[in-house]
Order: sequence, then C-alpha cells, then structure tokens
Amino acid sequence: MDAFHYKNGQLFCENVPVQKLAERLGTPLYVYSQSHFVNQVEAIQRAFAEVSPIVCYSVKANACLGLLRAMARIGCGFDAVSKGEIYRALRAGADPKTIVFAGVGKRDDEIDYALEKGILMFNVESESELSAISRVAAKRGVEAPIALRLNPDVDPRTHKHISTGKRESKFGIDIERAKACFKRIRELKNLRLKGLHLHIGSQITENDRHAEAIAKILPFIGEVKQADFPLEYLNVGGGYGISYKGNEGLDITSFAQKMLPHIKETGLRMVCEPGRYVCGNGGVLLTRVIFDKPSGDKNFLIVDAGMNDLIRPAIYDAYHKIWPVVSEFQPDAEITGDSGQTYDVVGPICESTDVFAKGRRLPRCNEGETLAIFSAGAYGMAMASTYNQHPRPAEVIVHGDKFWVARERETIEDLTRGERLTPKEVFSAEDLK
Ligand code: LLP
Repeated sequence: MDAFHYKNGQLFCENVPVQKLAERLGTPLYVYSQSHFVNQVEAIQRAFAEVSPIVCYSVKANACLGLLRAMARIGCGFDAVSKGEIYRALRAGADPKTIVFAGVGKRDDEIDYALEKGILMFNVESESELSAISRVAAKRGVEAPIALRLNPDVDPRTHKHISTGKRESKFGIDIERAKACFKRIRELKNLRLKGLHLHIGSQITENDRHAEAIAKILPFIGEVKQADFPLEYLNVGGGYGISYKGNEGLDITSFAQKMLPHIKETGLRMVCEPGRYVCGNGGVLLTRVIFDKPSGDKNFLIVDAGMNDLIRPAIYDAYHKIWPVVSEFQPDAEITGDSGQTYDVVGPICESTDVFAKGRRLPRCNEGETLAIFSAGAYGMAMASTYNQHPRPAEVIVHGDKFWVARERETIEDLTRGERLTPKEVFSAEDLK
C-alpha cells in the first residue's frame, strides 16, 4: 500500500489520518512516512543485490535527523556535500565508513573535518581539489581516499536546471582531463584513488541513461586499472526519477537490469546516491486554505504554505499533485459541474512566482480546509527558507499508527536569533590594519 492513501474519504499517512495531524500541530506541516524511506532504500539494495551495493542516501534531498537515523539503522550510507551534512549523518548514527563527500567547492575546514571523521571517500571534481585534499591530508599525516567524478557527457534528458552530466556543466571532470589527473594523483603522496564517480542529473525517468554513462566510461576504467591504481568502487550517483503526476517514475528493477551487466563488467563494488527516489513520495506538505479569492477570470486559493516552504514549483515549474485531505473524491478523479472548481493555488509570499498550481481542477474547497501537496518529501523542507519572515514548518514522522514531531515549528523569535539591535562592540577600519 502507498504510504499516503485515501480511506473512507480521508487521507492517511500509514495508519494516521493527516487531517488530525494538521488540527493538532498546525499548518504548514511536513508529514513523512518512515516506512516509505526505509522501503525505498531496501528496494534499491534488492534490485542491485548481485553487486552488493553501498547505498548512500543523498542527505541534501531531506536532511531530517529522525529519518536519517531510521536509515542509518538499516545500514544505509550517506552522500554528503558539506561539513553540515556530514555532521548530520554522524549525529543520526551513520558509520563514517559509509559516507561519501561530493561537491565542486569543498573548503579546507570541510576537507579536514571529513578526514578527521574517517569517511569512505571524497568525490573529487577538479585538479585544484586534488591539491587541496592532499595538502590538508598531509597536515594530518594521513592518506585521503578519493574517487574522481567524471563528466561523461551524457544527456540525462531531464529539466535543464537539474542536469549535470553534459560537458558544459560545472560538475565532474571531462575524460581527457581525468587522464591528466592520474599523473597528479601519483605526484601527490597523500591521495589514494579508490573509485570513480558519476552523477548525470536528477529526476531521470528513462531507464537507460545511467547505463549509457557507465558504458561510456568503461574504456577509461580499463585504463585506470592498467595504470595500476587499486580501484575498488564505482559510484553511479543518484537521479532516479519518481512519479509526481502518474506513473512516470523509474521502475527500479528494469533500471537495475540495464545497469547490472556494465557494473559487473567493471568488477568494481557499486556505490549509489539516491535522494529523491528514497524520500520524494514519502512526504506531503499540509497547508490550510486561508482565502478563496475570485479575481479577474481566476479563482485563487490562497494557502498558508508558500514558495519559502516548497520552492520547486517556483524555480523548476515542477508539478505537485494537490488535493483536499478530506474529500469524497479520489485524487485525479474528474470533477464535473458544481462539485469542482478550477483554481490557481498560491501562497502568501509577495512574489508572483509563489504559485503551487495554475488552472488546476479540484473539488470545490472552503476556507479553512486542509490541502495536501504531494511528493514533497524531497527538496521540500531541505530547500525551505524564512523569506518574508515566515517561520519554517514543523516536521512529523509517522510510523504505523504512531507519530512524533521530528522538528518543532520555528517561532518568530527563532527568526531573530543571533541578531543584535545595537552593537555589542564597535570597531573601526583602523582595527583591521
Ligand atoms: N549525488 C549528487 C552528486 C547530487 O548532486 C545529487 C543531487 C544526488 C546524488 C541526488 O540526486 P537525486 O537522487 O535526489 O535526484 N533541487 C532539485 C534537485 C537537485 C539535485 C541536486 N543534486 C529538485 O528539487 O528537483
């Protein structure tokens, strides 16, 4: 059964009616199904079982500590892109030996922290980064385990803002330059090349894109091995697409079937970094209709969540299903006549892109009613801000018929933390000399 489903006209997350959560805890509210997260990680582990994958959940998609903990407990690893994400994964109980560290711009203090904690490896994205990691590792007197992130120049055929595998992207190292990196890695005594890394984009729904990227780097892998580098890992990245509208998501089994022959051919241990696939459909954002506002030729439903809580529609034109949490109709039911209305669902933020849906046919909604914005588990709260001084929502984790507040709702007082009305101490330009 889906983590979120309607029963007798009410939306449930696992066995908890979400309307009651909205009443008890207020809105906007993120609600997550713990089982969904765990099941999705396990589905990947099963689909790739033949190559004993190390699944490193991509923390950036949803960094909720309570969920990270549930994943760490089933032996999931983590893909981090900052010191902050490594810290979070460790706080959630991750084994450092299952953490990979990616990102085009790692600072020295971040590199040093990762070395101190003893992570599995760094995904290196440039020649300058090789030097930086080696320098910091030398200071610590250690060898840094690294993987080279290659840019395979493969089109992931996804939204241009979340495409990373083409030559013109800032991510990864093109294959010609990667060859030059060998020499550099040998010269730099504090690096140990353990793997190769690919990540070609996000929300990829064609099941042969990753396979094509791996096939493209196979000759290169041969060269690396010939050059006597003791490669152990092939990190195939993340990007596995999910269903936002209907059934457009990847089928993980047929996806794995395409990739497995290539992975086996490399003889390397597979690492992967799924984010959205694990959490996207494991979360909803609950929001209350503040006003029903007919204006011009339109009917606006003004809700209490905004682009500050879920920015995907505003910046990627992303589609998220929206439906009342109590409704006699199933989502996607065709609503004819007076039972329905065509709405623009918009937030309270003072920006014209603060729109969740345009011209969406929904059951007629009343002020005060709760709506669910679906598929909000990935890149929802993780990208939330306090723009317009709206405190960020609370997060609730549901497990079976139990729920708990995994993150308290922010308060307006939280929003001024760290600020001062008057100086504590005044300096002058002179003090900077
Ligand atoms: N590995 C690397 C190196 C990444 O850059 C990313 C995502 C992932 C793994 C996880 O990708 P996933 O499996 O979640 O597709 N904010 C955008 C998505 C940005 C993805 C950034 N990198 C969105 O809301 O669609």
